[in-house]
Amino acid sequence: MINIALDGPSGSGKSTVAKIISKKLDILYLDTGAMYRACALEALMRGVDCLDEKSVAAFIDDIDLKIVYENGAQKTILRGEDVSTKIRMNEVSMKASDISSLPCVRRKMVEMQRAVAKGTDCVLDGRDIGTYVLPDAKYKFFVTAKPEVRAKRRYDELTAKGQKVEFDCLLEEINRRDYNDSHREFAPLKQADDAVLLDTSDMTVDQVVDFILSEIERD
Ligand code: DC
Repeated sequence: MINIALDGPSGSGKSTVAKIISKKLDILYLDTGAMYRACALEALMRGVDCLDEKSVAAFIDDIDLKIVYENGAQKTILRGEDVSTKIRMNEVSMKASDISSLPCVRRKMVEMQRAVAKGTDCVLDGRDIGTYVLPDAKYKFFVTAKPEVRAKRRYDELTAKGQKVEFDCLLEEINRRDYNDSHREFAPLKQADDAVLLDTSDMTVDQVVDFILSEIERD
């Protein structure tokens, strides 16, 4: 069984890398961040504050969220609607970080993630895959990069899509999310003791992919 845990902060490039690896190895890819983003979108649609635990707890167990695959690509379906694009909106990012700090949300999402991964060769990316979701994963990587590099990557990605963004704002958001994600009580962003650390600040996507594949093939 191949279970790969790819954890790391926002913008470290782990989802780009995870997608390529899942194609090359022909295994399932689950972007767990998309699930927290969908929870935040559900809260926004309900007019619920993402840090209001009582109100979130009232809907989270019955959230109508499904992860489906179309030609190998993950689609996030909320209330029957494909929200894969909507959940990428910048305003959803911070809300996703907020809602993901609530234990009731994490318990529900982790249960769903483990159900998807069960008995399947897969690569999961997130913040707590190696430490909490799949602690027995055979391969664990902690992918990171300097905040300025991650902000620049995000800046390039958004401007290429025609969005007008300020580099300094993106950098501040990245630092805020890093702090939020690594300081929450329940399953924070943290390198697993047995994960391989990979600083991608000066690496291309291909170099990161090759490194991870060589670690796997070495076995
Ligand atoms: O990877 P991303 O930026 O799409 O994730 C959005 C938010 O979800 C992120 O700020 C933290 C949270 N998250 C988490 O807490 N645990 C995960 N396994 C994945 C994401």
